[in-house]
Amino acid sequence: MSVSHRSLRLGGMNVAVFPDAEAASLAAVDSLIEILDTARIRRRRAVLGLATGSTPQPVYAHLVHRHRAGVLSFANVSTYNLDEYYPISPLDPRSYRSYMHRHLFSQVDIAPHRAHVLDGTVPEAFAAAHAAEFDRWIEADGGLDFQLLGIGRNGHIGFNEPSDLTVAEALRLPTRLVELHPVTRADAAREFGGENHVIPRALTMGLAPILAARSIVMLAIGAHKAEPVARALTAPMTALLPATLLQSVADKVTWILDEPAAGRLA
Ligand code: PGA
Repeated sequence: MSVSHRSLRLGGMNVAVFPDAEAASLAAVDSLIEILDTARIRRRRAVLGLATGSTPQPVYAHLVHRHRAGVLSFANVSTYNLDEYYPISPLDPRSYRSYMHRHLFSQVDIAPHRAHVLDGTVPEAFAAAHAAEFDRWIEADGGLDFQLLGIGRNGHIGFNEPSDLTVAEALRLPTRLVELHPVTRADAAREFGGENHVIPRALTMGLAPILAARSIVMLAIGAHKAEPVARALTAPMTALLPATLLQSVADKVTWILDEPAAGRLA
């Protein structure tokens, strides 16, 4: 990470605090590019876990820019996205398939059949089988080299929402169909034209496959993330705040924050 930043260590995890959102985004871009470079040198495919939402948009914009400049290829990359609303058509502009198409897949040289997003059109009777197949495909692809994460205001990662499970139970959660938490629905209200219009369920990668990634970058930007960030880094592990569970794999997790998102850290 080239730009000057503050380094902290909290919950056993590396935390890098950058002066502003742009510097933090660029640090996440650098960590992704390092994964792609390492895979290229080793002549193997890079397997990336990707996230949606407003936080990673500048990251994708930078990746697209570098691809256009001829310095970055996705020809030997496969991707697995964290989540998708359910049910939803991939043609729906609010679907995460459509988001990924707009922000990345249509703009780079990734093979269409290697850009995986959970399928919001699978019949409900087959949703569990589809989710299990998603986890099997990640494993068959060699496992995730890298997982990009964001944090919800309620501490969710992917759509693994707060729950009263034990830590051991939460850590075993596979990819599955879930109900969205009220805070998540409130945060999606603008996109859907009101909280009551938010699709209330989603398919999400489980905590187990997320935490199995060989490296994990949590990117959090903005003062509205300061509280969940501080709690996730300093509270004991609990399924009530899923991001605390990153502490269970602390040595492979890096938090990349801008100063406002780090505002509640001592
Ligand atoms: P955001 O979403 O990037 O849109 O804030 C993050 C999340 O809910 O995981």
